[in-house]
Amino acid sequence: MKGLTCLSAMLVGSLFISVPSFADPQSDSDDVRAFFQKRFSNITLEDYADGAYALNENARMQWEEIEEFPPYEDAVDEGMVLFETPFANGKSYATCFPNGGIGIKQNYPKYDTETQQVITVEYAINQCRTSNGEAALPYGQGELAYVSAYMASTSRENIINVVIPDDEGALAAYEAGKKMFYERKGQLNMACATCHISIAGGQLRAEITSPALGQTTHFPAFRFGWDDIGTLQKRYAGCNTQVRAKPFALQSEEYRNLEYFHTYMANGLPLNGPGSRK
Ligand code: HEC
Repeated sequence: MKGLTCLSAMLVGSLFISVPSFADPQSDSDDVRAFFQKRFSNITLEDYADGAYALNENARMQWEEIEEFPPYEDAVDEGMVLFETPFANGKSYATCFPNGGIGIKQNYPKYDTETQQVITVEYAINQCRTSNGEAALPYGQGELAYVSAYMASTSRENIINVVIPDDEGALAAYEAGKKMFYERKGQLNMACATCHISIAGGQLRAEITSPALGQTTHFPAFRFGWDDIGTLQKRYAGCNTQVRAKPFALQSEEYRNLEYFHTYMANGLPLNGPGSRK
């Protein structure tokens, strides 16, 4: 009997898995956009870069007031100093990135076909450090987030352009990220998509849940709850914890794949990081 249950579970499982899944990022993106366009017919594509503030006039006004004296300004200044300070070997961050690291954040995450993995800006910052004999920095907040915030600030207004090359590994990474976005998790059994697609724009406790489209445009972001600037993946971990699911390690393969999918959805939107959020 036990064996039978097991077998039927396996059958159900395999039926699920055998649904042909030809990764088609462009049509996924079209579907997400069509969904939101129908749901929020009064806002433009660009407005999605403002997250929940695009959906609520009151919250938007408060936010605009905060942005008059941006709470992330010190982090950007500090990030610039760190970015420009040479490593012990005389090299610097600029030597690790295209265009000396300036105005390039809109192209990340990237898929590296050589090492077969997704490279986010934060991951690349630490790769740069370790390949130059410097210690890796903690992901999430602090110096690494400041450097990333500075790099974002030099890329403002640039149009997000995440490329998914026609490569088996790249498509698999994208699919894994997409799966994570739609997979229900944690004791509350909720997916990212539950809150940020299905009920996006709704009120959850004191907050309006932002649409998945455009959520990545302004990171690293200053949050009053963090009292500092923090990275996108720190936010992922926070949202996982909210539904009482165990978060992954920051910059784990899982979160880098998630960021790949998530940022691809924002293609065509202007980068406006760093930003501030409640
Ligand atoms: C239980 C509902 C819930 C789930 C599930 C959830 N989030 Fe969130 N998330 C929120 C709320 C509430 C906020 C704060 C308001 C907002 O959306 O900006 C938020 C904020 C965010 C933000 C910041 C948005 C911004 O404009 O700064 C990102 C990014 C994010 N979530 C991503 C995710 C991802 C990725 C997942 C899945 C791993 C996820 N969330 C799962 C409720 C949820």
